[in-house]
Amino acid sequence: MRRVRVSPGPGPLRGTIELPGDKSIAHRAVLLGALADGSQRITGLPHGADVRASLAAVASLGARVEEAGTDTVVHGVGRAFGAGGPEVIDCANSGTTMRLLAGMLAGGSRPVVLDGDASLRGRPMERVAAPLRALGAGIETTNGRPPIHIRPAALRGFEWTVSVASAQVKSAILLAGLSADGVTVVHEPAATRDHTERMLEAMGVSVERHDGAVAVRGRQTLRATSLSLPGDPSSAAFFAVAAAIVPGSELLLRDVCVNPTRDGFVHILRRMGVAIEYLDPRLVCGEPRADLRVSARALGATAVGANEVPSAVDELPILAIAAACADGESTIRGAAELRVKESDRLDALGQLAALGVEVTVLPDGMIIRGAGSGPLGAGRVSARSDHRIAMAFAIAGLRTPGGVEIEDAGAVDVSFPGFFDRLAALGARVEVRT
Ligand code: S3P
Repeated sequence: MRRVRVSPGPGPLRGTIELPGDKSIAHRAVLLGALADGSQRITGLPHGADVRASLAAVASLGARVEEAGTDTVVHGVGRAFGAGGPEVIDCANSGTTMRLLAGMLAGGSRPVVLDGDASLRGRPMERVAAPLRALGAGIETTNGRPPIHIRPAALRGFEWTVSVASAQVKSAILLAGLSADGVTVVHEPAATRDHTERMLEAMGVSVERHDGAVAVRGRQTLRATSLSLPGDPSSAAFFAVAAAIVPGSELLLRDVCVNPTRDGFVHILRRMGVAIEYLDPRLVCGEPRADLRVSARALGATAVGANEVPSAVDELPILAIAAACADGESTIRGAAELRVKESDRLDALGQLAALGVEVTVLPDGMIIRGAGSGPLGAGRVSARSDHRIAMAFAIAGLRTPGGVEIEDAGAVDVSFPGFFDRLAALGARVEVRT
């Protein structure tokens, strides 16, 4: 795997950044397109490995995928989805692919196995299997993890209270509910990203939402539609922090999804003193989006609590880097979920110590004593096969005159191929070592 070293460029970061299309929405556009009647046209599908895993999965399960210029068209097969195809579906590194497919295939007519790479094989799957079993599915995990074995079953609607705040679990239950008899209701402990609900509505499905509960009636037909994807806020967050920590910088991040279940990082960075404006806010294909203007400021420390975690869950690694460049002691709590992402992200972020940052890793978070306006120390870290850890430490390199060397930096391709080129184009020093 590639080793990359990032160190500061000669001056502030200025310019406009176009982001890859939102990964969460992209998975849903592909997966729901395959379940639909008609052809789903998707503009701005990101090219990362994760979304390719969803494309390959639906193609192997019977939905034809066509590249049409810059668009991708998924020709849906409606209720015939999953009736044919291989017995084992490889979900690669993608938890979203595996968990949502588990829901889509739980009420199917033939056995199927969902598997993935070494990192995905380490992630918890009972959180999805248990509610699907309650709907009548014949589903078994392997000691709680992938591979997941699904037998044919007839599902009936059920009311389920999810114990961890997880959009993937909520979505899996709702998608299984579509092939169940009766009504399926999901209660969430905290609001998680609602892209599945919004997209189902855009595809003609009636979804009821009130007081932290979502309900769908089974056997509704999904009508394919045309979707233009907004830029991914989880990718935008890296450049927002880059602009925030390099004095004198100002970046315009174009066409970013600002769905309120996703923009927690903006509120946290604003609280730390960063100037972030939403320009030209608009609603496109059911999702709020805006251009973000981000300007560097001296950062103050902050406390991120459990209530903010769901809306910033994927951004906590880069927010930890912002905290490392802030003045004072920041805390992140209620974030034990970070331990079961593509890597144990709390443990991986403990590598801030290699850059001379005083950091304490807690069971559910961390305490970070920031360097204020001072530099970080040169050091070497491992991305641990995790795209967001690779990008977070790359951004830390912008405040490290001696450079941050990242092993396993090729992991960025999971969500943001071309990330290092973008960083170099802004003037950062990026040296690829292998
Ligand atoms: C996602 C939900 C979140 C997030 C992941 C994508 C989704 O995971 O961390 O990157 O697309 O639904 P959880 O559902 O496990 O919280």
